[in-house]
Amino acid sequence: MKPVRKAVIPAAGFGTRLLPVSKTIPKEMLPIIDTPVIQHVIEEAVEAGCEDILVILSRGKESLEDYFDRSFELEEQLKVKGKTEALESILRPTRLAHIHFIRQQEMRGLGDAVLMARQFVGDEPFLLLLGDTIVRSNDGTAVSKLLADTYARNEGPVIAVEPVAREAISRYGIVDGTEVSDQADVYRLKTLVEKPAPEEAPSNLAVCSRYLLTPDIFDLLATAKPGKNGEIQITDALRRLAAQRAMFARRIHGRRYDAGNKLEFVKTNILFALERPDLRDKLTAFLKELVSTL
Ligand code: UTP
Repeated sequence: MKPVRKAVIPAAGFGTRLLPVSKTIPKEMLPIIDTPVIQHVIEEAVEAGCEDILVILSRGKESLEDYFDRSFELEEQLKVKGKTEALESILRPTRLAHIHFIRQQEMRGLGDAVLMARQFVGDEPFLLLLGDTIVRSNDGTAVSKLLADTYARNEGPVIAVEPVAREAISRYGIVDGTEVSDQADVYRLKTLVEKPAPEEAPSNLAVCSRYLLTPDIFDLLATAKPGKNGEIQITDALRRLAAQRAMFARRIHGRRYDAGNKLEFVKTNILFALERPDLRDKLTAFLKELVSTL
């Protein structure tokens, strides 16, 4: 069995939920304090052992390429001024992994974006991470690492899932599976249901933007019929994959931070700022004062 060394990060979507800013600033480049969302996503893939990462872009998203490139003039300036910490912070993204870029020509959906990665992936297993969402587990283990471990043990594709409230079920892909008896939080997948009504949902476990896939997904994506809005959905291909081979879901104990949604984006910034020693105390004082006036 081949180890997981490659990751694919779709980041080509229009991000219409974040307009007007996403007209010129890709949502993946929006800052969580001072670090773009996409850097958190790439760091997660690196923690899971990925050395080669393909980011799927579209027109107008060149700032992602620039961000992961060197900036010699700025580096020189910071060196001369002795700003070591700032220098380290701009070098870090350039040293994370081999980061490759490709363009999705037409925004034909997530499934179509993933299909762009076929050549890059070749015959290896790969991680798929949505570029606008940060996911963290409570104990700090990278969610992608949990998926890679589950894959190594079961030799089948794995989807990260998390429980969602009943009223949220109809917004997600929901899994139908049975618990694997000797593995905590691992389910053998029967099928997936896209956006079911709560009373028809097979569980409350929702697909949560991280997948460990095998190259047989590409044939299924290539033959997938466009769904609503003419987009190629990934759920259909995953459902067909689950029908033809053993496939798994890994329940995550943690939190998803969807930066493609305005309210979640604001919450993410507050939560991450509260974890930062340089910001925590002053922000806490500000929030307490603010709350007392609400
Ligand atoms: P979303 O469903 O969030 O779509 O895509 P979107 O277009 O980016 O955002 P909204 O709904 O218009 O606000 C989920 C992920 O799939 C990528 C997005 O970049 C995001 O990471 N995606 C989506 C593509 O790469 N290509 C597509 O054609 C569609």
